[in-house]
Amino acid sequence: MFGKDKKQLVYIGSDHAAFEAKEDMRKYYEEKGYDVTDLGCFNTDSCDYPDYAREVGEKVLEHEGAYGVLICGTGIGMSMASNRLQGIRAVLATDEHYAEMGRNHNNANVLCMGSRTTDIELMKKISDKFLATEFAGEERHIRRVDKMDG
Ligand code: RB5
Repeated sequence: MFGKDKKQLVYIGSDHAAFEAKEDMRKYYEEKGYDVTDLGCFNTDSCDYPDYAREVGEKVLEHEGAYGVLICGTGIGMSMASNRLQGIRAVLATDEHYAEMGRNHNNANVLCMGSRTTDIELMKKISDKFLATEFAGEERHIRRVDKMDG
């Protein structure tokens, strides 16, 4: 949780297609004071997005209240791969509304974005919205989220 005493935990990962965007976003989170951990990739050598989706997803599941941010070329592969982990609810967001609804209605714990589809300034806005939005917590939303995770 993000409060006075405890910084919001963010785990970030990308594949080669989004290495530069991931670097920019990691610096952005550091500047904003989040407790961010970069799980790679660490260069532009070709690599496989499911590996990073799994690493980030596992960290999110290990740390209550943590969020994951996964970036690949389109965000599609990262969202597909991370949503295979039980308990991960990843939203592929191409604008702020998706980020807001993903948090507010679906209690998303992972944000996926595409470096080839979304420019860095929009990524920052999407991410700000994601991190600032609370889960609505109403009974119908809780029930639906529970059905996904059950
Ligand atoms: C890599 O070329 C690309 O396929 C990957 O980054 C991603 O867009 C997959 O969904």
